Amino acid sequence: MRHGRFEESMSNLLRDYGESVSFDWRLYAHDILGSIAHARALVKAGYLTEDEFKSIEKGLKTIGEEISAGKFAFSVDLEDIHMNIEKELTNRIGDAGAKLHTARSRNDQVATDIRLYLKDEIAALRKGVCGLQKALVGLASANESVLIPGYTHLQRAQPIPLAHHLLAYVEMLDRDHGRLTDTAARMDELPLGSGALAASTLHLDREAIAQELGFSGVTQNSLDGVSDRDFALELLSALAILGMHLSRLSEDVVLWTTTEFGFAKLSDRHSTGSSLMPQKKNPDIAELTRGKTGRLYGNLFTLLTVLKGLPMAYNRDLQEDKEAIFDSVDTAKMALAVTAEMMGALIINKETATTAASDPALLATDLADELVRKNMPFRKAHDLVGQLAAESAKTGIPLDRLPKEFIREICPELIGEWEGLFDPIRSLKARSATGGPSPNNVSIRLAYWKNILV
Ligand code: ARG
Repeated sequence: MRHGRFEESMSNLLRDYGESVSFDWRLYAHDILGSIAHARALVKAGYLTEDEFKSIEKGLKTIGEEISAGKFAFSVDLEDIHMNIEKELTNRIGDAGAKLHTARSRNDQVATDIRLYLKDEIAALRKGVCGLQKALVGLASANESVLIPGYTHLQRAQPIPLAHHLLAYVEMLDRDHGRLTDTAARMDELPLGSGALAASTLHLDREAIAQELGFSGVTQNSLDGVSDRDFALELLSALAILGMHLSRLSEDVVLWTTTEFGFAKLSDRHSTGSSLMPQKKNPDIAELTRGKTGRLYGNLFTLLTVLKGLPMAYNRDLQEDKEAIFDSVDTAKMALAVTAEMMGALIINKETATTAASDPALLATDLADELVRKNMPFRKAHDLVGQLAAESAKTGIPLDRLPKEFIREICPELIGEWEGLFDPIRSLKARSATGGPSPNNVSIRLAYWKNILV
């Protein structure tokens, strides 16, 4: 790269500061795919012979195999993965290798590599999302009859099926899956052919390269082609949102496995101990996901900040995209796999959950609804049932066991059917509007997801 233009060699400090091969080597397989497609287009345009193409293709494939076997010696003097591969190819096959970079810049090359790499990673991430959805559906299904208290403000509110709670995450993950799909669709354009910034005077068939590499189109502006990283931002933002969902689920697991809640137990395989307190069984696994979500947010902000204020077109700042991208992809993939395994092995404590969900106070709203059915305005019903709840709180007598005289005094309308009003199943059965937690709705939705997630 420096031959010709420079007299002095580069400072070692700048070499170490600027090298990216220590992390962008991971793009090697996609870099090689891109180079082979580019070389084929060079043949078609008359800049390479068939024989030269064959030796390029063979050389690149051999280099690829060596890298994947860990037998390739990268050199930081060659800066990045692109130069490392190209230089080694030229060392091995001579002039043909030196022709590979015809009508190409590392700027359109790296933009192509990242898109190719991310299209594959997105496919893996989508699988990971489905894997977690399956684990949640499995857990919900195995505990379909278990009730827990639903919460608002982390105060017990109304009884719900545990399955309804778990399926809420399945819906969230479905949106994550959709965001990943959308992101992949928008990054599905080939930037190769944009050159350094202004394409090339040597014409290649970009559409044919796109087709060979599995892109459904080509970028339409060479400046945008080399400097656009929106597709990576979209992915990092989709992964930040996904992380937020995983973090909320993790927090539920942390809460459920406390002695205070006691709704669930982590399997021993997914629990940690304390170095000091022999009795401890800790949910580090869920806490790590909650913590790692910070990295997913951080990586999004890294890239947003790198991009803001960049003048057109390529600037070396763009090299800073990679570690953020790799880290978010790795972190999200691991978090999905770990969370799926953890949820798949979670042990539900049916008894504690059912006892907590059977607190009669959780059916106070149902009492008010019953009064509404007897033609009372809801605000008045709310007020009367509030008086019952206050009496229960004051005396410590559970709502369903308040003295009959008191009930007759406050809401005589309910006295006839009083006992029957405190059945959580009866309450749930009535919550049958679309999206509601009735047992029938929940089992229909479970069947729906089982069918989708085959
Ligand atoms: N390693 C560089 C990157 O990741 C490749 C492109 C280098 N281009 C350049 N004009 N220096 O962005």
